[in-house]
Amino acid sequence: MIHKLGVVGHPVKHSLSPKIHRAFARQAGLEIIYDKYDIEDAELGLFIKEFFANGGKGLNITIPHKLNCIKYVDTAATAVKRIMSANTLITMEGGIFAESTDGPGFLKDLYVKEIDINKKNILILGAGGAAKSIISSICLGKKPDSIFISNRTQSKVNELIKLLGTDEYITPIDFSEYEMHKDQVRAMDIVINATSKGIDGKFSWEDDIPVHEETIFYDLSYSKDQTSFLEWASKFSNNGFDGKGMLVQQAALSFKLWFDFSPSTEEVEELLNE
Ligand code: ATR
Repeated sequence: MIHKLGVVGHPVKHSLSPKIHRAFARQAGLEIIYDKYDIEDAELGLFIKEFFANGGKGLNITIPHKLNCIKYVDTAATAVKRIMSANTLITMEGGIFAESTDGPGFLKDLYVKEIDINKKNILILGAGGAAKSIISSICLGKKPDSIFISNRTQSKVNELIKLLGTDEYITPIDFSEYEMHKDQVRAMDIVINATSKGIDGKFSWEDDIPVHEETIFYDLSYSKDQTSFLEWASKFSNNGFDGKGMLVQQAALSFKLWFDFSPSTEEVEELLNE
């Protein structure tokens, strides 16, 4: 039996997901077809319906459809309803089900890289969909000392804190209020880039970021060479990681949802670096 899978985005031509899932399928001894679908917003609903009606097993959803796809599913995981973002669809008895493996994939990659966030000070740059996914997972699962959020558009920081701040273990803090906290909160131990800034050029950040020699810089973006965020960060510390690890981990969690098989991720991440 051949399982039909795919990734939907706009644009989607640079997606590494087909390569990753084909490698997972080889490990699992499964036959799959995994295609890229460049679909515009207006066609998304019809596309999803037809994909599953025509025997599709699972879909990955990428930018810009992670929010909009939720309108077209029958049920969604609690995390999806909370952050209003999904990256994995599957057909189940109750119809099409939406899950988000971005946040859990991020945490898994930290675990694999032995980056411990317990009792650490974390700064997230960005307050969009990617930031929301990872902050929500960090807040629910781990116990950092503090999480700060810095974003170009200030109002989005406030919105994000309001969304995440009430029932969490830890309430994120607006980084523009760092001065008020700097007696208790020393430098940042981990700085995470969750913006799309610098993808086509140089990265810089307006605010001064308090860091130390061991500060870890983690970019949710990735590129074949060093990302512009990590190039910028190299003036502070050499502890830099790009988003390929998270990409592979979130894909592994999608694959597990589709086939109940946990692929080995190490060799696949190496494949992406080739
Ligand atoms: P994603 O789903 O990838 O997070 P998004 O929700 O559009 O995409 O969020 C993009 C993030 O990158 C936002 O935090 C955005 O800042 P604004 O809220 O101010 O728009 C940030 N971003 C994008 N381009 C940027 C730039 N040139 N400078 C600073 N921040 C930028």
